[in-house]
Amino acid sequence: MNRKFIAGLGLFSLLSTPLAADSVQEGEKIYNQICHTCHAPDMKGGIGPSLIDDFWKHGDSPEAIFNTIKEGIPNSEMVPYKHLFKDDQISAVRDYIMSKQVGMRSLVLSTYPRNHFKDKDLSLEALKTVESIEQKNVKENLIFFKNNYNGTSHLETNLHVPEDGEYQIKINNIGRTVAYLNGEKIFAQDDKKKPSQSLNKSTHLKKGVHKLDIIHDERPQHALRFHAVLLIKGKSHVGLMGKSLEGSEPKVVRASGEAKVLRKYIHGISPRTLLCLLPNKVMVAYNPYQGKVEAVWKNALLDQTPSLNSRSANASTIKGDKVEAELLGIRASSPIKLLSYRYDADKVKITTSISGKQHKIIIAPVGADAYSIEGKSKEDISDFSIDLSKSDADPNSHNSNFKFIFK
Ligand code: HEC
Repeated sequence: MNRKFIAGLGLFSLLSTPLAADSVQEGEKIYNQICHTCHAPDMKGGIGPSLIDDFWKHGDSPEAIFNTIKEGIPNSEMVPYKHLFKDDQISAVRDYIMSKQVGMRSLVLSTYPRNHFKDKDLSLEALKTVESIEQKNVKENLIFFKNNYNGTSHLETNLHVPEDGEYQIKINNIGRTVAYLNGEKIFAQDDKKKPSQSLNKSTHLKKGVHKLDIIHDERPQHALRFHAVLLIKGKSHVGLMGKSLEGSEPKVVRASGEAKVLRKYIHGISPRTLLCLLPNKVMVAYNPYQGKVEAVWKNALLDQTPSLNSRSANASTIKGDKVEAELLGIRASSPIKLLSYRYDADKVKITTSISGKQHKIIIAPVGADAYSIEGKSKEDISDFSIDLSKSDADPNSHNSNFKFIFK
């Protein structure tokens, strides 16, 4: 049997132990000194992502968060903090972040063969008699199932409860479902049995972290119709269902028969720079507002980060061989305005306005791994000049009509 394990899936050892109040307080101080500038005082994110939404790109277990803070995230503004803070200070800021979570965290979805449970009741005990087919950490921390799902599922999660109160789970009556809170069965339902045989207990929960297990099974069909909500009696509810973000996993954009203009935030490149990916895999980062080529890569592709609402300002990356190119720059005494850009077969055409006059830049592939940049203007633009980073003097340097080939 194809049994998969994910390292570190073990549920969080702080279960039901309240987070040490001193540690949380010390963590709050550190957070408000350093982290708030990028993650916002309310943790909803800014330059860095939200730290209180459901989605955790780098893992939401206490160990994973500790590690992220200590070691940082390579090639991002999230630098390692191990040089600044001792381990117990890092734990403190981690505990402060954990204390602000609401809903499910460290959600693990395991799938078991449906046939095994055909004549058996669903229970935590019954799960021990069979091996899972698949087990995965759900980064989104929301319950969702794939289309054509065929199996019995076990959802295991740490439920972060925002306040003391009476809690009750509400699950629609399709298929069979059982739920456990801190190991105690609080819910059981089977659409083939009489309602009188079902169980739905409300439970008093203290603010903090509790263990929730849900086991569910329904007849095979196109999509599972499971739906669950956690009610805080007399108050509000915590949504447990969501959408898979699988479609938002990094998308790779490769060169194709046509030129492409990509607009993504890349570290070290000015925002709003046009990333021109030519069919010969040359990527020219052209900043139309400053009239300059900021960087060039050969054999390039773009690794786009997921464009999630809650994950603002995540940088995408360009993979390829960054070349020591001659970087063309246009100088003009008045500001350069971008009017439009478009791709025309294998070329990118960028139209700008310099001193009120239209100026076109055409970036085109040349051979296997070279490119050309052409400048065109109907009228002469006075106070126009060209800088080439490497050459000392250039014959065309005062002419707004030019063509250079870069190898
Ligand atoms: C200069 C801005 C900046 C500062 C200051 C900063 N971060 Fe970050 N942080 C980021 C960015 C950007 C990311 C996302 C990196 C990525 O995924 O590429 C991030 C990611 C994270 C993550 C991972 C989130 C996830 O989804 O997995 C954690 C946890 C985190 N930061 C905690 C902290 C803590 C705690 C501090 C203070 C000690 C801090 N950060 C300070 C910019 C910052």
